[in-house]
Amino acid sequence: MISVKKNIFRFINFCLLSLVVIIFVYANNFQSSAIAANEKHFYGPGDNKQGYESIDYVTNTLDLQKRVGKQADLLEFYRNPPLGLPPAPVPAYNPLTEEKVSLGRILFFDRRLSINDTFSCAICHIPEQGFTNNEIQTAIGVEGRSGKRNAPTVYNSGYLKMMFHDGREDSLEQQVWAPFLARNEMANPSIGYVINKIKAIPDYDGLFEKAFDGRGPTMETVGMALASYQRTLNAADSPFDRWHFGKQQDAVSESVKRGFEVFTGKGQCSVCHLIHEDYALFADNQLHNTGLGYETSMGSNSTTTRVQLAPGVFADLDNKIIRSVSKAKLNDVGRYEVTENPNDRWKFLTPMLRNVALTAPYMHDGSMQSLREVMEFYNQGGVENELLSPLIKPLDLSDQEIDDVIEFLKSLTGSNIGTLVADAFAAPIGNISKDDPNWAHDNQIK
Ligand code: HEC
Ligand code: HEC
Repeated sequence: MISVKKNIFRFINFCLLSLVVIIFVYANNFQSSAIAANEKHFYGPGDNKQGYESIDYVTNTLDLQKRVGKQADLLEFYRNPPLGLPPAPVPAYNPLTEEKVSLGRILFFDRRLSINDTFSCAICHIPEQGFTNNEIQTAIGVEGRSGKRNAPTVYNSGYLKMMFHDGREDSLEQQVWAPFLARNEMANPSIGYVINKIKAIPDYDGLFEKAFDGRGPTMETVGMALASYQRTLNAADSPFDRWHFGKQQDAVSESVKRGFEVFTGKGQCSVCHLIHEDYALFADNQLHNTGLGYETSMGSNSTTTRVQLAPGVFADLDNKIIRSVSKAKLNDVGRYEVTENPNDRWKFLTPMLRNVALTAPYMHDGSMQSLREVMEFYNQGGVENELLSPLIKPLDLSDQEIDDVIEFLKSLTGSNIGTLVADAFAAPIGNISKDDPNWAHDNQIK
């Protein structure tokens, strides 16, 4: 009897041990294949992305050691805009000067200009990511506070007649105060707080006075300096420009040429994304309802929503689960938020399409990851709603035509992008240092 029991015990022990060994070998294999995938895809330039667990994730962010900075003659891109751009407009009260551009460039990269010294403009408008952020759909500000809109590029922003996706600002000089003060962006408590902080930072000693005839930092001069830097970020002379305006036949592929025909013909894109005779900004300074805003704020028939968990990591979650854990979805009615005119619901500003290959994700809410998704959206005629723009209708484009338009859009990347990015890398980054007052405790900022 005893020996039978012993044998049963031995047998069970053996089974358990085998199971443990099998699990161990399996888990080890699994782990090492995951690590192999990591090594292939996550290392290289940029932060170490281990733990993101998404094999297809790639980043354009360069780590600090890999950045090669080289200061450029920025004013030249304003004086002689690259091929394809018209003369650059500048308000009479803020003529562009070397001193203002250089001061604006320092301000743009200064993280101390946020409440907790972490956020500069460049944290959301990242130079090597098309001066936008390719990694998140809607902007995230200090302390992880999220906003409802995608950060647009600031390339060619000097040409904008209206700013923001709802067109609520009309000058770069004034626009800056929105991010400075927004709770979910740089979160400064007041205008005076920002001005006093700049006055207290030794790096700025004398710079404003030199740029503005003796005037120090004020609400106006801060805006004027930042506007001046941004007005030099003109990026064009793309393959398309060399072909279309420069008459250089071999500057683009046959596919780009066919794509241009579709863009200006069957696709009707250039009705809103305008191309003029001797320049192109691909925008019309108008706001339109394409149905995208309607779909996200009124809900679609879909039972799942694609949620971004981390850069490059997405999950399709059941809407019931989302509702159970989150507050109501941030509603965005677009231009209506500016005018409160019901006819303006879900209208958004036509973006300029220059350098669009560098500025994913797309649309006011960053909901489209690729140009293909954008094309499929237009091809189906946007999303039907009572206020849909009459200019948006099903296009019946073939796969070939869609591919060609995408090639055309990719041909809009300016030849001087590398120069502008290298210049940005050469700019000083304003980080809190031992020379700065300890804002939080010394009570320097009132
Ligand atoms: C937290 C991220 C964030 C920070 C920081 C930030 N921005 Fe932006 N920026 C955005 C978003 C999001 C929008 C679009 C907002 C909207 O449409 O309501 C935007 C819009 C803009 C626009 C208008 C572009 C267009 O096509 O309409 C300009 C210009 C701009 N920002 C410049 C700046 C400057 C200068 C700073 C620093 C003072 C700055 N931004 C700081 C996220 C940010
Ligand atoms: C009725 C005017 C109109 C027409 C026609 C139109 N667009 Fe647009 N386009 C817009 C507006 C408005 C937006 C911004 C929508 C938003 O933010 O939700 C936009 C956004 C885009 C974007 C995203 C850009 C970015 O930076 O997020 C691309 C790319 C684009 N359009 C390409 C095209 C192409 C290609 C066509 C033709 C198939 C086309 N558009 C037709 C008005 C138009």
